[in-house]
Amino acid sequence: MKNILLAMALLTAACNQANHDNDSFGEVNGKKVSLYVLTNSKGDTVKITSYGGIVTSWTNTDKQGKKSSIVLGFDSLSGYLAKPPYFGALIGRYGNRIAKGKFTLDSSTYTLATNNGVNHLHGGITGFDKVVWDVTEHTDSSLSLSYVSKDGEEGYPGNLQVKVKYSFSDEGLKIEYDATTDKATVINLTNHSYFNLSGNPSNNILGHQLTIMADHYTPVDSTLIPTGEIKAVAGTPFDFTTAHAIGERIDSVPGGYDHNFVLNKKDNQLEKVAELSEPTSGRHLEVWTMEPGLQFYSGNFLDGTIHNSQGIALQKHAGLCLETQHFPNSPNQPNFPTVVLRPGQTYHTVTEYKLNTVK
Ligand code: BGC
Repeated sequence: MKNILLAMALLTAACNQANHDNDSFGEVNGKKVSLYVLTNSKGDTVKITSYGGIVTSWTNTDKQGKKSSIVLGFDSLSGYLAKPPYFGALIGRYGNRIAKGKFTLDSSTYTLATNNGVNHLHGGITGFDKVVWDVTEHTDSSLSLSYVSKDGEEGYPGNLQVKVKYSFSDEGLKIEYDATTDKATVINLTNHSYFNLSGNPSNNILGHQLTIMADHYTPVDSTLIPTGEIKAVAGTPFDFTTAHAIGERIDSVPGGYDHNFVLNKKDNQLEKVAELSEPTSGRHLEVWTMEPGLQFYSGNFLDGTIHNSQGIALQKHAGLCLETQHFPNSPNQPNFPTVVLRPGQTYHTVTEYKLNTVK
């Protein structure tokens, strides 16, 4: 009897393994990289790799019944190793820019890697988007990842233990971020998916309709560092409090949209902060977050040099990012919400991208 039970337990474990099995996606610095598939009951799938925690595709059916991915990405690891601009990746230790790669915390000044002109961008040269994460759990609908960022990595203080859980349901994709540190540090985690709801990245996103629940935004200098001002959007091309096509006023924004919006929501509560829709596919995306800010980036730096796995050249505005976050350069802006994490505290934040198709 005991042996039969043991055999059954082994069989169940083997079946679970097979069920949740993942494809090998290659290797980085001697570490195996895998690709995981999450599914929902509608038959939609999200694929995520342990390299950078990157969402490589999110496949869904449009109103014509055609299946396609609503995010920019590649079918193979080599596409990502060629360093595309953060397609689908987890961003850390600090999403967006820190001016001149310097900040002072508890009277110590820290110098970070500068990888964007004079500034530090998206965690530095080897940010969380370019490391292999450990997979702690994988089910048909979720993937839990962890990464330990060492004290001094890219110049940041403190050993940071980071956990990210992706959960996929009929509603959409939920991302939960948790972290602890052994020394005071700064943190601002996000995901850098580029959406194109048409499902075809040869179409640009200028016809997508966007709403952002933000009465204010943070204007930037010529190196995209916020000036510190919190400015009203009313009467400017940054007013997305009602739906506007992205292309409608983009010509009056030098360089295109690449700005942080100060969300109207209450602190630390999970609320709807943006909506994006694309008329021909009928797809509609809602962004929900606990974060105080949203970086709306209209894919301005894409220039056709990167081709996706189907050989499509990704031109300017082939995708757009809606990155939930604390404000750029917060470590140097005392008037912005704090990004400091101290030993004994737990960083916890949740963002959800909810998708549906309007027939
Ligand atoms: C930034 C852009 C940057 C892009 C990726 C966005 O989050 O705001 O300035 O070019 O990421 O490279």
